[in-house]
Amino acid sequence: MWHPSRVTEAVLLVGGQGTRLRPLTINTPKPMLPVAGVPFTVHQITRARDAGVTRIVLATSYKAEVFRAFIDDADLGIEVVIATEDEPLGTGGAIRHALPFLESGPDEPVLIFNGDVLSGVHLEGLVAHHRDTASDVTLYLTPVEDPRAYGLVPTDHDGRVTAFLEKPKTAEEIVTNNINAGCYVFRRGLIDTIPAGRPVSVERETFPGLLAADALVTGVVDKGYWLDLGTPLSFVQGSCDLVLGAAPSPAVPSIGDFLELPGAQVSPDAQVHSGSVIGSGAVVGSGAIVNGAVVFDGAEIAEGAHVVNSIVGVGAVVGAGSVLRGAVIGDGAVIGRGNELLDGVRVWPGAELADGSVRFSSDA
Ligand code: GDD
Ligand code: MG
Repeated sequence: MWHPSRVTEAVLLVGGQGTRLRPLTINTPKPMLPVAGVPFTVHQITRARDAGVTRIVLATSYKAEVFRAFIDDADLGIEVVIATEDEPLGTGGAIRHALPFLESGPDEPVLIFNGDVLSGVHLEGLVAHHRDTASDVTLYLTPVEDPRAYGLVPTDHDGRVTAFLEKPKTAEEIVTNNINAGCYVFRRGLIDTIPAGRPVSVERETFPGLLAADALVTGVVDKGYWLDLGTPLSFVQGSCDLVLGAAPSPAVPSIGDFLELPGAQVSPDAQVHSGSVIGSGAVVGSGAIVNGAVVFDGAEIAEGAHVVNSIVGVGAVVGAGSVLRGAVIGDGAVIGRGNELLDGVRVWPGAELADGSVRFSSDA
C-alpha cells in the first residue's frame, strides 16, 4: 500500500531537441550528454531514487533510441520505463502520454522533472508540502536574477500560485524573480485532464488553465543550487560544479579539482583544473591548459593548446597551440594548429579547420 510520506513515481521529460546545445545534440539528445562522467539523466534519476522514487517514466521523443540503448544496459537501482511519443507532444502532452505507463492511484503524487535541470532541491520536502497543503500541483520555485528566459511564478502570502507567465515579453510581466525550477508534483488524477493526442505546453496551457479553474497550485521556494543546462556555458558550468562538489549528485564518480575518466592520458606537465572532465581515451598533450572545460571521450588536446570554458566533442582534435574560450567543438571535428575560437563559436561535427597563425611557446 502507498504510504503518504513516500512518492513512488516520477516522469522525466527528456524529449526536447536541445537546440541551444547544437552541434553536440545532433548525435546525442541533451540528457544523454556526459556531464561529470555520466549521462546527465543519470544524475537526475539517482537523485530521485535517493529521495524514495522507485519507478521513473522517461518521456522521450527526439532520439529516443539513444535512451533505450543506454537504459537496457544500465542498473540504476530504480525501475526505468521508457515512453516514446511518435511526434513531440510538448511538455504537457508528454506528461499526458506517460499516463498509461504510471501505476499510481488518482490521489497519489507524481513528480515531474525537466530533463536538463541540476538542483539540490529537497524532493521529500516538496512532496510533504504537496501532501500537507492538499495541493493539486506543487511547484518548486527558485529565484534568479534575470527571469525572462523562464516561467515566472508569482505566489501570494500563503504560497498559493497566482499566475504562470512563461518567457514574458513585456516589462509589466516581470512581476517576480521566482521561476518554475523545472520540477513539480502533480496529483495523478489531474494528469488525466490534460488533452491526449495533441501537443500541449504544460507551462503555457495546463498551468494557466488550472489557475483559471481555481485548482490549488502552490509553490515552494528553494534558494539552494539550481542550474538549467540548456546552453553551452551552463552545460560546462554544471559539469564543473558537479566535479568540484558544488552541485549535489550521487552519481559523480569522484569529486576533486578535475575528473579524469579511465583510459584518459594527461601529460604530466599539462594543467587541468576548475572541475574539468577528461573523457575516457582522451589525450591532453604537454603544456596544454584545460580549465573549466569538458573534453569528451577519445578527444585530443594537442600540446600547448588552451581549452577554457569549452566543450570538445567525442574524438575531436584541438591542434597544437590553439586557443578555445567559450567554444563548442562537434564530435570528430579537427581544429588545426594555432587557431583561436572564442565566445560562442560552434564547430559542426566532422568539420576541419586549417592551421591558423596563433603562435605558441614551442614554435619560437
Ligand atoms: N517528451 C518530451 N516531448 N519532452 C519535451 C518536449 C516534448 O515534446 N519538449 C520539451 N521537452 C522536455 C525537454 O527535453 C526539457 O527537459 C523539458 O521538457 C523542458 O524543455 P526546455 O526546452 O528545456 O524548456 P526551457 O528550459 O526553455 O523552459 C522550461 O524550463 C525552465 C526551467 O529550466 C520551462 O518549464 C520553464 O517554465 C522553466 O522555468
Ligand atoms: Mg531547459
